[in-house]
Amino acid sequence: MSKLTVLEFAKMKAERVPIAMLTAYDATFARLVDAAGIDIVLVGDSLGMVIQGHDSTIPVTVDDIVYHTRAVARAVKRAHIVADMPFGSYQAACEDGIRNASRLIKDGAAESVKVEGGGELAPFVRAATRAGIPVMGHLGLTPQSVHQLGGYRVQGREEAAAARIVDDARALEDAGVYAIVLEAVPRELARRVTLAVGVPTIGIGAGPDCDGQVLVIYDLLG
Ligand code: KIV
Repeated sequence: MSKLTVLEFAKMKAERVPIAMLTAYDATFARLVDAAGIDIVLVGDSLGMVIQGHDSTIPVTVDDIVYHTRAVARAVKRAHIVADMPFGSYQAACEDGIRNASRLIKDGAAESVKVEGGGELAPFVRAATRAGIPVMGHLGLTPQSVHQLGGYRVQGREEAAAARIVDDARALEDAGVYAIVLEAVPRELARRVTLAVGVPTIGIGAGPDCDGQVLVIYDLLG
C-alpha cells in the first residue's frame, strides 16, 4: 500500500476528489482511521482538550505532539500524517518555528506540520518549505487565538473580515502551503476561498463546498 504524499492533494482538488481528514492521537485509533481509507491523519493540538482535559489547546507542548505523533506514525500505512505546531512554537521567530517543526518531523515522524494564522506566517511557511517541511495552513476560527477572538465563534461574517481571510489564504498559498484548513466560517466564505486558491481547502464547520472535510475523531464518535 503506497503512502499518500502532499503531491496527491492538489491533484485530488483538480479532479474534485474529496479529501477526508480525521484526527488521531494514538496507535489504535490511527490504525482504524487508516484502514477506513482516511487520506490525512491530523495529530491535532485538540489533544489538549480531548486527551488531556484542558479547556483550550494552549497548554499543549511540542513534546506532547511528538509523543502522540510517534504513536500514530507506528500504525499508519497509507494516510498522510500532519502534526499541529502548538501555541508558542512558531510565532516568536522563524528559527524557533523551523527547529520545532524539525522535531515534529524528525522525532515525531510527522510528514508535514499545521500552523494557525494568515499572511503574517508567510516568512515561516517559506522557510519551512525551503527546509523540506510541507506546511498546512489554518484560517477562520484559530483556537490558539481564543483569547484574542473572545471565544470559539464563527469568523468572517462581516465583509471586511471575510476579505481578510481570502487575502490570508492567497498569502499562505503564495508562501507555499499545500492545503488550508478553514474552521467555523460561513459556507459562502468557504466557497469563496476554495475558488480563490489552487491548494485544497479542508473545512470544519465551513459548509460542504470545501475540497475536503476534517473532524476531531471524538466529535465524529459523538
Ligand atoms: O487540533 C485540531 O484537531 C484541529 C482541527 C480542529 C482542524 O486543528
